[in-house]
Amino acid sequence: MSERVLEVKDLSVAFGHHKNGEPATRPVQVTDRINFHIDDGEFFALVGESGCGKSVTAMAILRLLPTPSAKVVAGSVLLRREGGEPVDLTKISLKEMQKVRGSEIACIFQEPMQALNPVLTIKRQLLEVFKFCNRHCDDPMAAIRNLLTQAGFKDIDRVLDSYPHELSGGMLQRICIVMALLPKPKLIIADEPTTALDVTVQAQVLAVLKELAATTGTAVLLITHNMGIVSQYAERMAVMYAGRIVEMGATKEVIGSPMHPYTRGLLAAIPESHEDLGTLRSIPGQVPHARDFVQGCRFADRCEFCDKPCLTAEVPPCVKVGTHEAHCFKI
Ligand SMILES: Nc1ncnc2c1ncn2[C@@H]1O[C@H](COP(=O)(O)OP(=O)(O)O)[C@@H](O)[C@H]1O
Ligand code: SF4
Ligand SMILES: [Mg+2]
Repeated sequence: MSERVLEVKDLSVAFGHHKNGEPATRPVQVTDRINFHIDDGEFFALVGESGCGKSVTAMAILRLLPTPSAKVVAGSVLLRREGGEPVDLTKISLKEMQKVRGSEIACIFQEPMQALNPVLTIKRQLLEVFKFCNRHCDDPMAAIRNLLTQAGFKDIDRVLDSYPHELSGGMLQRICIVMALLPKPKLIIADEPTTALDVTVQAQVLAVLKELAATTGTAVLLITHNMGIVSQYAERMAVMYAGRIVEMGATKEVIGSPMHPYTRGLLAAIPESHEDLGTLRSIPGQVPHARDFVQGCRFADRCEFCDKPCLTAEVPPCVKVGTHEAHCFKI
């Protein structure tokens, strides 16, 4: 049985704290009791429209939330560390957390150009990974060449001698994937890794991420607003809306028989799933701002199935069918 790499439990983040950690008059809670886990080598996706709290959740896991304003106000982030029991990343020292980042959990962000140093060659930057991670490698150059080959690069010497501005966005993002995998992390967090790229290279970059993670046994937390991407690459997924997870399960269950109206709305908006673009539908309205979040169903004002029982101040109940679950009054 595969083991759990990461377990996020009841994680809530709020903005609006002072330097001393005390909340301002009205702190704004942007995520509400987020629960999910990722197993060894699993490709897990967190999907939802912009502003749902996906990046805040990733930043909370990595302890990269903007301070002092943002704070984890409840919950835990359990990471299984080498040979030991899971540790709560929200509780360890920042020094210890620096060891976790890069070596045990690596990240890939939207803009590869911002992740790379413009004045250093790719070779130098890839070699520097070994200086800062706590993993020994007998032959760093061989490891780099091996991963670059697996990432689809042909003229490796030219790539190694290039500066970032000499390569395309798709090539740079594939280099960021190689860089993230060099220290052999257990988990990669990829936050919208292809959003800034041309549509034509998006699939290539995601295929490289999926393949390299599979061959190295690394788990992936992919964050995206694109349901089409999730359906193609993720094994399990969670759908987030207005700071809460509203549906979660194996991708084939969630996509094949979605339970939550929001998930159905996101699926109806994927162009590829419709032969006739006339049937393509968007969800009316938009994600509310966090300061307007209600305790009851936050999707109610956009939901075509909204009925009287949905308008209470109760959090929608969790309905489970095996490992597939959704939070809604009308399932
Ligand atoms: N630095 C910040 N200060 C205040 N609010 C923020 C900050 N960053 C994000 N938020 C708020 O947190 C919510 C979730 O944002 P985010 O996690 O970036 O969404 P997503 O990644 O799903 O698009 C949004 O309502 C956003 O306005
Ligand atoms: S609880 Fe009601 S309003 Fe909310 S998503 Fe379900 S059906 Fe729609
Ligand atoms: Mg984001």
